[in-house]
Amino acid sequence: MKGLFITFEGTEGCGKSTQISRLAERLRAAGREVRLLREPGGTPIGEEIRHTLKHSSANAAMTPEAELLLINASRAQLVREVIRPALEAGEVVVCDRFYDSTIAYQGYGRQLNLDLVRAIVDVAVGETRPDLTLLLLVPTVVSAERMRQRQSTLPFARDRFEEAERSFFDRVDLGYQAIAADDPGRVRAVDACGSIEAVGEWVWRRVAPFLQA
Ligand code: TMP
Repeated sequence: MKGLFITFEGTEGCGKSTQISRLAERLRAAGREVRLLREPGGTPIGEEIRHTLKHSSANAAMTPEAELLLINASRAQLVREVIRPALEAGEVVVCDRFYDSTIAYQGYGRQLNLDLVRAIVDVAVGETRPDLTLLLLVPTVVSAERMRQRQSTLPFARDRFEEAERSFFDRVDLGYQAIAADDPGRVRAVDACGSIEAVGEWVWRRVAPFLQA
């Protein structure tokens, strides 16, 4: 069976995690082997990098350039250690964020040069690109409110990304809209404010044609 690579994208609180578990259940019911991954992370090295990026008490002074490189170090490891072998084995790889997050967060959000960001991403992923990217869009006010509600339930005292100012998340949102407009064949965007079931059906309708291929 041919491997399939699906990524989910969106701002904080867009409902990715819920949709990813629903999709995984449906794919498994359809008889597919599913590999669920997240970025940054997904390998022992990547999970250490994730901690450094998000929760470590030593990360307050991290520069945007260091952030870009750490995220892509985690990605380079994930692609070679897990994603490529899983795709070769015919699995469906579902990744919570991939390089579109870097374009949106480090490119648009942190305002690093987009050509530079794309060049670093190229080093990390090479030819390994998603077949389908599902972008869940929620207004930034909704995202901010969900982040606020989630704060009290976090297992760590802080998350460095969530400390960014509101204008950062507005730029990330614009970045995602630009990504969807640039690559409409691969990136399918949906208004994710609808019910979990409605968004879930939308997701399944995008994924199903790839299962017949
Ligand atoms: P999450 O797993 O809770 O979504 O947290 C991951 C955080 O990392 C989120 O705030 C977005 C950020 N991030 C980037 O800034 N660039 C990237 O390339 C990726 C994969 C994540």
